[in-house]
Amino acid sequence: MRDKIFSQQNDLVDFTFDAQVADVFDDMVRRSVPGYQAMIEMIGLSVKTYGQAQTNYYDLGASTGATSVALSVNNIHANNRIIAVDNSPSMVKKCQQNLALSKHNIDVICTDINTINIENASIVVLNLTLQFIDPNARQALINKIYQGLNQGGALIVSEKIHFNNQHKQQLMTNLHLDFKRANGYSELEIAAKRQSIENVLVTDDKKTIFQRFNQAGFSTSTCHFQCLNFASFLALK
Ligand SMILES: C[S@@+](CC[C@H](N)C(=O)[O-])C[C@H]1O[C@@H](n2cnc3c(N)ncnc32)[C@H](O)[C@@H]1O
Repeated sequence: MRDKIFSQQNDLVDFTFDAQVADVFDDMVRRSVPGYQAMIEMIGLSVKTYGQAQTNYYDLGASTGATSVALSVNNIHANNRIIAVDNSPSMVKKCQQNLALSKHNIDVICTDINTINIENASIVVLNLTLQFIDPNARQALINKIYQGLNQGGALIVSEKIHFNNQHKQQLMTNLHLDFKRANGYSELEIAAKRQSIENVLVTDDKKTIFQRFNQAGFSTSTCHFQCLNFASFLALK
């Protein structure tokens, strides 16, 4: 379904992942996040190298399940369980519908990712989710993921990022606006969404993201994909 949520002048409230957003999420994310499809493909590629037999793959902030599908269809290992977690009941419902065919090894759980146990994991994915977590809680979440990963396991994090260089920040912001315009969003929609989401989506810069990985104990981390102001990071235990 096409995203028209911000196409009319309404009283603006803070963005939430409610039923209205869940209905149009797949269209919204593809038209708003440059490189989204490539991010998902990279996650699929990681399964062969970092997945381990008889372990769990976690999709944290699963939304409608695109990441879980990529983990599932690319899996070459035996006896894995995919655990897709989201705290939006509307998203969980959509995710369950989308995963119905491959659901035999996927659990979809409606809860806060800050409260779950991560255990026996070889892959953990936070695809565009960490940016919605309270910045003060982000390090504890990354630490918990590190503790729950097996040796050789991988954490993949994709985020909207900001740049401390003002010129670069402006350049990337303008290119991102052009991306949205090119995907059919009007000036009204772009402005309204920005206002609605600005208190909810809090970006980090790349340095902060790497610091979080280092502090948690990850031995290697790299930015393996970037398209404008969206980047994916791979951290290895
Ligand atoms: C931008 S979407 C993630 C997109 C998805 N990972 C993908 O690859 O298509 C962010 C998701 O994180 C979920 N979320 C935000 N905070 C959460 C939390 N504390 N616990 C669980 N889910 C959370 C939202 O409900 C939303 O579905």
